Amino acid sequence: MGPIGVFDSGYGGLTILAELREKLPEYDYLYLGDNARAPYGTRSFDVVYEFTLQAVQELFDRGCHLVILACNTASAKALRTIQQKDLPTLAPNKRVLGVIRPSTEILGSISQSKRIGVLATQGTVASDSYVIEIGKFSPEATVVQQACPMWVPLIENNEHDKDAGREFIRKDIETLLEKDDQIDTLVLGCTHYPVLKSFIESIVPRNVKVIAQGKIVAESLADYLNRHPEIEANCLKNGVVSYLTSENTQEFDQNASIFAKDDVRSSHVSLH
Ligand code: DGL
Repeated sequence: MGPIGVFDSGYGGLTILAELREKLPEYDYLYLGDNARAPYGTRSFDVVYEFTLQAVQELFDRGCHLVILACNTASAKALRTIQQKDLPTLAPNKRVLGVIRPSTEILGSISQSKRIGVLATQGTVASDSYVIEIGKFSPEATVVQQACPMWVPLIENNEHDKDAGREFIRKDIETLLEKDDQIDTLVLGCTHYPVLKSFIESIVPRNVKVIAQGKIVAESLADYLNRHPEIEANCLKNGVVSYLTSENTQEFDQNASIFAKDDVRSSHVSLH
């Protein structure tokens, strides 16, 4: 038995972990942030895949039977290859899940105008994962995307609340809404972005719903565990949460407080 693994390029996945703990507090979780190599958003497909596979392997080696890629970029660029190519030989009884599918399943039903805006990293936007997945569940919906390459670096460096940081964020949102002024649903398609949610809500028109993924992913995981008792049986249930970072642990612990609700004491991990 082992904890549920939660992986992100950096701090963003902590917004997902917080909601998993809220919904499913009985489970153990092992968080891994590859902060030393973040951001992933501007990296190539091959590099994101390679880094993500290393992280998944590390979490498997530490006893996880189930790993959540709490990162849209990794979910967009690495999840399918890992599920289809690597898992059957690497660990046929283990599972890796992403964050894009659960969100895209329900976005069409949230939007009344059927115009959905996606704010995400360059990598996620270029993959067209949101356009493709929303198209499967809600073919009547139009999806308009905006890459926000500055947002993750701003958040990772805790600059997003400063005036200059907010200007970048405001500009990207204005650009998206100029592309389609009928958008009534705006998905934060990067797990770092929920820390910006209230600021974004303050600048978009009042009819626009801003959707963070955490609760949706938590609901989806609860449902998955119900439907897969053979996987659920391998998940430890002592409510213990541990953290790993590929960067300096002190820095991680300090910055993680922006995302996590409690005291974080991480350990260092080298990924290769
Ligand atoms: N949290 C990651 C995501 O959801 C950020 C990617 C990055 O490191 O640029 O896409």
